[in-house]
Amino acid sequence: MMQERWSAVDEYVAGLLVPHDLALEAAQSASDAAGLPAIQVSPPQGKLLNLLARSIGAKTLLEFGTLGAYSTIWLGRALLEGGRLVTLEADPGYAKVARENIARAGLEDVVDLRVGAALDLLPDLHVEGIGPFDFIFIDADKENSPAYFSWALERSRPGGLIVADNVVRDGTLADPESEDPKVQAQRRLHEMISAEDRVNATTIQTVGAKGYDGFTIALVDG
Ligand code: SAH
Ligand code: DHB
Ligand code: MG
Repeated sequence: MMQERWSAVDEYVAGLLVPHDLALEAAQSASDAAGLPAIQVSPPQGKLLNLLARSIGAKTLLEFGTLGAYSTIWLGRALLEGGRLVTLEADPGYAKVARENIARAGLEDVVDLRVGAALDLLPDLHVEGIGPFDFIFIDADKENSPAYFSWALERSRPGGLIVADNVVRDGTLADPESEDPKVQAQRRLHEMISAEDRVNATTIQTVGAKGYDGFTIALVDG
């Protein structure tokens, strides 16, 4: 009952405020056809990522967890001239679909999709001198969100934003007894941020087409 209403509001908002983008729609259809799980950000959330990246004039972006590149395309659309987006995906099958979707969106020259476990790929970025980053979206395996956040903090430029998805998890974020490793990890992430004086952060609970969840936004001190 509530889920229907949340989805209806997402559709209403998207209908008026989220413009049709043929490449995003094609990416979604191709991802569905290839059997990828439908766990991408919703259209209003994708637009939020785009607005956040644009609002800070982000030129160097990093994404953990590409899936079919739906959020990647939203972020890629925010890039300024000369900007670059690195996105990391562990699953080669998902990455293949993502690569086609990125090309269809005309973003193949600005999106650098790398395949492997993110923690294995990060040292390469460092060695290649990619970064510091203006905007980092953490949306891969939730168990590693605290590790990704630690890395992100070291490789963010002052004034940069770090956004972590799926932190509220049906409200289980507030349950200290939860035995779910994803919940425990998101609680650790919050404790880590709380003890960290280089960032200012908050977490926003969301309802919508994807149920009840939420995201953390952290502004790295400038
Ligand atoms: N950001 C996407 C959704 C990502 S879903 C969007 O909103 O459109 C999470 C993705 O993280 C999945 O594709 C999964 O394969 C990937 N993933 C899981 N573990 C990973 C790891 N260790 N390193 C990189 N990617 C990983
Ligand atoms: C899952 C992952 C996501 O990034 C998301 O937004 C929703 C669900 C998942 O792994 O189930
Ligand atoms: Mg997510």
